[in-house]
Amino acid sequence: MDYQKILHEIEIEVAPSLGQGAVADYIPILSEANAEDFAMSVVTVAGDRFHVGRAATPFSIQSISKVFTLLVALERDGDALWERVGREPSGTSFNSIVQLERENGVPRNPFINAGALVVTDALISRCADEDPRDFLLAMMRRLSQSARVRIDAKVAESEKIWGDRNRSLAYFMKSFGVLENRPEDILDTYFCQCALEMTTGELARAGLFLANDGVDPLTSEKVAAHDAVNRINALMLTCGHYDRSGDFAFRVGLPGKSGVGGGILAVAPGVCAVAAWSPGLNEAGNSLSGSLALELFSAKTGLNLF
Ligand code: DON
Repeated sequence: MDYQKILHEIEIEVAPSLGQGAVADYIPILSEANAEDFAMSVVTVAGDRFHVGRAATPFSIQSISKVFTLLVALERDGDALWERVGREPSGTSFNSIVQLERENGVPRNPFINAGALVVTDALISRCADEDPRDFLLAMMRRLSQSARVRIDAKVAESEKIWGDRNRSLAYFMKSFGVLENRPEDILDTYFCQCALEMTTGELARAGLFLANDGVDPLTSEKVAAHDAVNRINALMLTCGHYDRSGDFAFRVGLPGKSGVGGGILAVAPGVCAVAAWSPGLNEAGNSLSGSLALELFSAKTGLNLF
């Protein structure tokens, strides 16, 4: 398959859509991103890499970090994790609070913010003698094989200042006894994980184990158990795009996870990991051109799972 040719075609075909989405502005520093930017990277399980656009420009991975914290939480808790976070699509926006009271403080899934906060709680418990932010950063550097990956302190600070909704979610869940650690500690780690800054190439490389049954095909590291990878991919497919998860599965047919920085990580099991980035978002907070690029990718490669 000529991935480089396909990426060039996609770059041309998404060009008219660039700038049509709105850059996230509920966290002021995110509004500094340029809606016209676009990048896409493919890393295959054989180790071949293909890039197009601004693939050397790091961006804020935001909610895509929830995939990697979920991996840590599943390794620590196994199926016990599902006692305090569900695995159903929420049909609500990423930071919604409406279902939480009705469902006794148990979030619908690990990718909406409430669920991600439970997952980050498990990460903190896992890191008893270690700063969870350092643990996560080291993990992302190892998986991406890039020491350049960093947590952008300015983004983390802006998240913290404007994090009242997340604070509400965390304290609300605390009132139901769902959390093990202090809400402020969970929030500090959550804001830092959202502020991880990576390129599309680094992100696709970091997600490659998801396309290879939990084993990093290039280092042979066993990153995750077979069951954990199956479950993470299933959740990405069903819940990775909030109240547009059905639409993404319909159009792209691959497990994917979006972030309000405009990134999307997608997985073609057995074949490759793909990351697309463009900061202009649709109304649900998913990259408009990034979703389109992935739709074109699955159509052109025939990698749509269905
Ligand atoms: O929790 C927040 O507000 C963000 N920093 C992360 C949200 C996010 O990326 C939602 N995804 N589309």
